[in-house]
Amino acid sequence: MVAAAPTLKYDIKDINLADLGNQRIEWAGREMPVLKQIRDRFAKEKPFAGIRIVACCHVTTETAHLAIALKAGGADALLIASNPLSTQDDVAACLVRDYSIPVYAIKGEDNDTYHRHVQTALDHRPNIIIDDGSDVVATMVKERQEQLKDLLGTTEETTTGIVRLEAMFKDGVLTFPAMNVNDADTKHFFDNRYGTGQSTLDGIFRATNVLLAGKNLVVAGYGWCGKGVAMRARGLGANVIVTEIDPIKAIEAAMDGFRVMPMDEAAKVGDVFVTVTGNKHIIRQEHFASMKDGAMVCNAGHFDIEIDLKSLATMAKEVKEVRNFTQQYILENGKSVIVLGEGRLVNLAAAEGHPSAVMDMSFANQALACEHLVKNQGSLEPGLHSIPADVDKEIARLKLQAMGITIDSLTPEQIEYMNSWTVGT
Ligand code: ADE
Repeated sequence: MVAAAPTLKYDIKDINLADLGNQRIEWAGREMPVLKQIRDRFAKEKPFAGIRIVACCHVTTETAHLAIALKAGGADALLIASNPLSTQDDVAACLVRDYSIPVYAIKGEDNDTYHRHVQTALDHRPNIIIDDGSDVVATMVKERQEQLKDLLGTTEETTTGIVRLEAMFKDGVLTFPAMNVNDADTKHFFDNRYGTGQSTLDGIFRATNVLLAGKNLVVAGYGWCGKGVAMRARGLGANVIVTEIDPIKAIEAAMDGFRVMPMDEAAKVGDVFVTVTGNKHIIRQEHFASMKDGAMVCNAGHFDIEIDLKSLATMAKEVKEVRNFTQQYILENGKSVIVLGEGRLVNLAAAEGHPSAVMDMSFANQALACEHLVKNQGSLEPGLHSIPADVDKEIARLKLQAMGITIDSLTPEQIEYMNSWTVGT
């Protein structure tokens, strides 16, 4: 640990929160053994010596471990928030004070501050951008073309960011390599499903203390995140309803045992609504109008566009803060709709995001994706790149080892059988 350099610039809530941040970062580390091994190797090998890395992530105890690992590897790392409501101010303070990592992130920052921090990140002239939602990359492409020559590439954490990068590629503006961390098996199978599943419910509970048993919980979207939310809500006794636009995912939800129906119908019966689609206005005016009194709506998708809060505001005669991160919209028709976390990621706004044990694998992927960009600089084509399968498997192997689980390996006879086609019926 080093004291913050006197010249270090940063924009955080309160440096005096650093002791608490330090304690919580240490606690998270207990569940992040894979990233710890990578950090120890980075500390010896210094793969990022001379490399400027900007990370635009949710500033949490888990992200702290990623930033510390990059710095241990020699990176000149700077961290900004990927969401105005997700920053843990104590973590930001500890990273500045104890690790001399410049952080620009304040929980509750307004949109102007958020965008100013994105500009500050670009002023750092990054060689690598770790993005969560693609805001920094999109801003660089739109506004800082001249900096692209210094960029080795980017790594993207989330589904929404990958969709944006694909759109950029189609438009011919993705002229550099982008590592697709989200689609690594050791990322989305665990982070998106078990991480979002648990932390979304955690956010709902912390915001409302609602009992889910016996309630109708509507999950909009049955991707990996939606599956996780549905699975965990069922485990708590909720009657889960799924809405979908994809016929295959809709069949999957039905065969997983959930009721599937359009939002028009679900709106009338739902007690708690969770949007996890990545698309906009999933819950809108006509849905609010038909909801039961006291229905709760929240979002676990990346951006705060899934619930049409502007329409809701026009329908409301009053908006009251009724608990932390919980607002009651009292409608002209006399009924109320309860909005959690201002329609932003409820798991990070009202709780602490995904547990450390899943972020361990997600951020192991991030760390190794950055190393991949450095090692392969000059030889990677522009466009999206998968995390190499051997890296994905190695992360899984290390995680299993840390969990104390051993598995079988193929016998020579089985290897021979798997490689031959001659034996049949
Ligand atoms: N995304 C979801 N949960 C997170 C966490 N705990 N830290 C960083 N990013 C996250």
